[in-house]
Amino acid sequence: MKPVNELIKSLADRYGRERSSLLPILQGVVEQEKYLSEYSMVEIARELDLPATEVYGTATFYSFLEYKKMGRYIIRLCKTITCAMKGENQILLTIQEMLKIKLGETTPDGLFSLLHTNCLGFCHKAPAMLINNDVYTELTPEKVREILTGYMNRKEEQEENVN
Ligand code: FES
Repeated sequence: MKPVNELIKSLADRYGRERSSLLPILQGVVEQEKYLSEYSMVEIARELDLPATEVYGTATFYSFLEYKKMGRYIIRLCKTITCAMKGENQILLTIQEMLKIKLGETTPDGLFSLLHTNCLGFCHKAPAMLINNDVYTELTPEKVREILTGYMNRKEEQEENVN
């Protein structure tokens, strides 16, 4: 595991140092660190030459600051207007029913956490969600069940590889 300042540098090398690089960089940091510290936000701001308040604002907007104990896979379902109008609520109900958790909760096995987020920029393919860094669009209840089943099977495969 890299020290966080090195990690931020390598993420900025990979994604660029523009404003639009902020989201993938935040995701990369959270993926390794499991939360976003004040130190990380300041380092990201320095690396991208942005005000720290902007990094903080973006992190809040996309609910990257809700870091209690999070699962291995963090689902962020877009709740902004286009997704809301295109059936986000049905998707939310499907996820909640399948994982038996509510928004803001983590499954007891530590596999999934469920959060709302704001517009992910995929309104033309609404409804949309992120699972860690992967974007899923044009969601339907069936599609979501398939996607989540895929993640559950991944866990089993990983366990088999370890055994
Ligand atoms: S409103 Fe959901 S992606 Fe834009």
